Amino acid sequence: MTHKGTVTIETERLILRRFRLDDAQDMFRNWASSENVTRFLTWPPHASVEVSRGYIQYIIDSYADNRYNWMIEHKALHEAIGCIDVISIREDIACCEIGYCLSDRFWGEGYMPEAFQAVIRFLFEEVGMNRIQATHDLNNPKSGRVMEKCGLRYEGTLRQGSRNNQGICDSVMRAILREDYDKQ
Ligand SMILES: CC(C)(COP(=O)(O)OP(=O)(O)OC[C@H]1O[C@@H](n2cnc3c(N)ncnc32)[C@H](O)[C@@H]1OP(=O)(O)O)[C@@H](O)C(=O)NCCC(=O)NCCS
Repeated sequence: MTHKGTVTIETERLILRRFRLDDAQDMFRNWASSENVTRFLTWPPHASVEVSRGYIQYIIDSYADNRYNWMIEHKALHEAIGCIDVISIREDIACCEIGYCLSDRFWGEGYMPEAFQAVIRFLFEEVGMNRIQATHDLNNPKSGRVMEKCGLRYEGTLRQGSRNNQGICDSVMRAILREDYDKQ
């Protein structure tokens, strides 16, 4: 693999780019403080904009180590509306796991599939990834739909295999291989 870090990716309606400290207000207001958005996530809602700023600073510092963590900017509104990132990488099998979240003001308009598809293309074609996987709580089928729309196939359900803000949960594993992507 050839790691490139969080380079800017443009789609029809979105710009995926590195976080900046001045995204903290949008991040806090649009998704990080929301009980609704964080329901099936592993971290609690941010209690103040300072928590969002601290998280962003940590991400900015980690860009030096080629971390993949994109802030999703709405092109027309010039607003930070969500994020998508590589949660973990297994170098020996060129495999990574993706996580994402989006402001609930923008749900249901296909924004996350648009962002995820662009990230999949980048990771396969420019980084040399061979397998891209993602998991979701069985009770969070919306996220499963995003994965399906992006070509990730169902591989199984890890019963009581994860924990999020709802407690211990069944975790659905989906993945797309480079060979699946090439056939699309
Ligand atoms: C999961 C998530 C990223 C979906 O993003 P999105 O851009 O809304 O995705 P889509 O527009 O493709 O919608 C996906 C599905 O959500 C459902 N949905 C759409 N609009 C909705 C709304 N307003 N309210 C509830 N569900 C809705 C539909 O089932 C849709 O599938 P369909 O298009 O086949 O009908 C977003 O809901 C989110 O950020 N959720 C909170 C964080 C989270 O759960 N992250 C994933 C952790 S694994």
